[in-house]
Amino acid sequence: MSVLGNILCRGNTWPVGRTLTARFARWLGRLLALRHRNVELARSVMIAPDARVNPRDGRIAIGERSLLASGAMVEGEVTIGDDSSVQNYTIIVGYPGNGAVRIGSKVRIAAHTMIVATNHVFADPNRPIHGQGLKPEPITIEDDVWIGGNVFITAGVTIGSGSVIGAGSVVTRSIPPRSVAVGAPARVIRRRE
Ligand SMILES: CC(C)(COP(=O)(O)OP(=O)(O)OC[C@H]1O[C@@H](n2cnc3c(N)ncnc32)[C@H](O)[C@@H]1OP(=O)(O)O)[C@@H](O)C(=O)NCCC(=O)NCCS
Repeated sequence: MSVLGNILCRGNTWPVGRTLTARFARWLGRLLALRHRNVELARSVMIAPDARVNPRDGRIAIGERSLLASGAMVEGEVTIGDDSSVQNYTIIVGYPGNGAVRIGSKVRIAAHTMIVATNHVFADPNRPIHGQGLKPEPITIEDDVWIGGNVFITAGVTIGSGSVIGAGSVVTRSIPPRSVAVGAPARVIRRRE
């Protein structure tokens, strides 16, 4: 967390509040995100000045009242709907083409989560992994999902609407709507009926 963000937000890791400095922090967070041509932010999006937003060669779009907390990082091809929040030090990386990350509305993503829509190719054991390329696959998080802290969501996964993912889970397979899933690998332990 940057010293400037700390001062402006008075130690709050969310860029919220009515004070002049909090409003300046939000303005600065937006300004830093919008310096990139392929970033679209709804008017009421709140971004901490020390969150990182970079579309690389993709596009980032974030809907009304959504929030990126201090230390959050959103890169590449990513859309986030309305009323969603991305907490501290969560990393979201999407890839143009087949590796987009689509996050719906009213989604809660707790701190230290990783949502990265690619895997390294490692088919050839005789060549370095770093030279074998990437295999992007899309990640979709539907509306009204709560993702606990320290979760990892792997490429190709869809998390159905109304689901809850327990803290520390590793989600390697898609999760049907209205599920509670926990563990590594994440398993559905009950449905929210
Ligand atoms: C998943 C969670 C919401 C609890 O859901 P629940 O349906 O009430 O589940 P329960 O507490 O009844 O637990 C059911 C079983 O799952 C296990 N379990 C619960 N959460 C788990 C987790 N995160 N990882 C692994 N196992 C978990 C329990 O130990 C229990 O196992 P048992 O049946 O063998 O005793 C909660 O444990 C959790 O992970 N919350 C996230 C907290 C968080 O990240 N907060 C960040 C700020 S928003």
